[in-house]
Amino acid sequence: MNSVLILNGPNLGRLGSREPEIYGSLSLADIEAILRADAPEDVALRFEQTDDEATLMGFLHEALDARMGVILNPAAFTHYSYAIRDACAMVTSAGLPLIEVHLSNPHSREEFRHRSVISGVATGVILGFGADSYRLAMTQMMTLLGR
Ligand code: DQA
Repeated sequence: MNSVLILNGPNLGRLGSREPEIYGSLSLADIEAILRADAPEDVALRFEQTDDEATLMGFLHEALDARMGVILNPAAFTHYSYAIRDACAMVTSAGLPLIEVHLSNPHSREEFRHRSVISGVATGVILGFGADSYRLAMTQMMTLLGR
C-alpha cells in the first residue's frame, strides 16, 4: 500500500473564502500543493472533494478496493452520516488506515458539531490545527504505511 486518498466533503471546495476566521485563508488547492510538496516521490496522492454523500461513499469504496490509506475530512457529514460511517468502517476493518481530520475544533463550536459518527471507526482523529491538520495526518499516515 503506497497510495493515499485525501477526501473532502461538502463545502470544502469553498475553502479560502468560506468563513476564513474559522477555516483559514488557504484553498483546498493550496492544501493539496503543500501535501504534494512534502510527500515522498513513491507515494501516490489522490485528492477529491465532493458535496455529494453517494459520491463520497463511492470514493471510499474505491479506496477499499485499491487498498489505499484514507485521510478524510467528512465536513458536515461527520455529525450525522451513518452511511459514510459504514463505508469508513469497511475501510478500517479491512486493515487500511483512515484518519479523520478537521480544520477547526468542532468541540469548541456549536453543540451539534461535538458528536462525530465517524471517529468510532477511524484509525485516529486530528482536529483544530487548520491546514496543519492535514499535514499532521499525512505525517502519521506515512508512519502507518511504514515510511
Ligand atoms: C469541518 C468541521 C465541520 O463541523 C464542518 O461542517 C465542516 C468543516 C472542519 O474541517 O473543521 O464543514 O469538518
